[in-house]
Amino acid sequence: MYHSALLKNTSFINGKWISSSNSFDVINPFNNQIVAKVADANANNAEQAVIAAKNALKTWSAKSAHDRAMILKKWFTLIMENQDELATILTLEQGKPLAEAKGEIAYGASFIEWFAEEGKRVYGDTIQAPSSDKRIVVIKQPVGVVAAITPWNFPNAMIARKAAAALAAGCTFVVKPATLTPLSALALAELSVQAGIPAGVFNVVVGTDSQQMGEVLTTHKSIAKFTFTGSTAIGKILLNQCASTVKKVSMELGGNAPFIVFDDADIDAAVKSAVTSKFRNAGQTCVCTNRILVQSSILEEFTTKFVSAVQSLKLGSGLEENISVGPMITKSATTDVKKLVIDSITAGAELLTGGDSELGSNFYQATVLANVTNDMPIAANEVFGPVAPIIAFNTEQEAIEVANDTEYGLAAYFYARDIGRVWRVAEALEFGMVGINDSAISNAAAPFGGIKQSGNGREGSKYGLDDYMEIKYLSMGGI
Ligand code: SIN
Repeated sequence: MYHSALLKNTSFINGKWISSSNSFDVINPFNNQIVAKVADANANNAEQAVIAAKNALKTWSAKSAHDRAMILKKWFTLIMENQDELATILTLEQGKPLAEAKGEIAYGASFIEWFAEEGKRVYGDTIQAPSSDKRIVVIKQPVGVVAAITPWNFPNAMIARKAAAALAAGCTFVVKPATLTPLSALALAELSVQAGIPAGVFNVVVGTDSQQMGEVLTTHKSIAKFTFTGSTAIGKILLNQCASTVKKVSMELGGNAPFIVFDDADIDAAVKSAVTSKFRNAGQTCVCTNRILVQSSILEEFTTKFVSAVQSLKLGSGLEENISVGPMITKSATTDVKKLVIDSITAGAELLTGGDSELGSNFYQATVLANVTNDMPIAANEVFGPVAPIIAFNTEQEAIEVANDTEYGLAAYFYARDIGRVWRVAEALEFGMVGINDSAISNAAAPFGGIKQSGNGREGSKYGLDDYMEIKYLSMGGI
């Protein structure tokens, strides 16, 4: 088992580490060895965390934005000072290559720095009243206690991105991280203590009874806002549960990102970008390229260059040097992807490279399929694995129609140089985020989020605080 001062193995509630009589194992997906045994919290613990957050709310929300910012900046600094250690813990529990894990720690921390500043820029409004003896004033206030459920694919950043905005706005926070990857969340809690975040403001409850704990976090009367990152299927269930107390919600759900390469594109740039966008985190990212659409006149050139780049990707332990693709999170995740590939080949897709397990059952080779159509399983589903299906198209209109032919609307990418086409396609794509000659779209300054069944709300940017604030209108009469 791994040892580190930042490796904690119990939930963190009201500033205390809370043990439990039961425990569960956190498994390294590279070698299936136990990284840590973690106390298995339950629904009562989730409720304790909510009460702690409720009790801490008055004092935290009454602090000035400046005072909250000072504490958040300290948290940011501590995270960056411990970047290497946090990245090692992340790679051990999640599997992604260490360089990517370090990138995730910096990415997560950047939201804390961003919102520490942004919290100082919450503005209200005055509005012309309908009569001269009245004044209308609009103020913004923290929504209250926030509960979050976060996924295993970004065990640090998905928490940091939500908690930063919530805490900066003056809310208090309870998170239930994925049980596959709780250690990064608990390490964040340890650093929150060192940063001086008061007891009850940031709570982490870790437990395997996701249904009961999720029920508490979506229905408790003291929770004002619920935020989730994960699959659309689970998001729909949680949304339903939130309806009973009409919570404010934000949902960052699944995606099926098209990556369109037009005949006027810089093909080498498109190849490089498509490889990164498809294979980072072994394809287990909501904004990963899911379908590559290539105009017929450049199909051969693009495909040859793309397959050659994919074949140079090295699979292995995330802790080794020069590894581009780590293991998938579990064996069953690999099996799901394998099935999508086999079913698509049966439906007429052509396997150009990959298509098998390697280095044991948690690894799936970087795979490319050609002759794919949008109705094949590999294109119609969110793949969440290292498989790139290539779909050919002839016209701009056809590319737009195929790209939009999905229930998802998170991210889309396209490569083109013609300025008219760039505007036409950018406006026609039905997605919350569009990368134009770019696939590195995630950063703290930008509003991350989707439309259609990819969810609602935005994380990051000047818009991100609104998800954690209420608008209050003051009507002042008798003037
Ligand atoms: C996600 O997969 O949900 C997050 C990806 C990102 O923030 O870039």
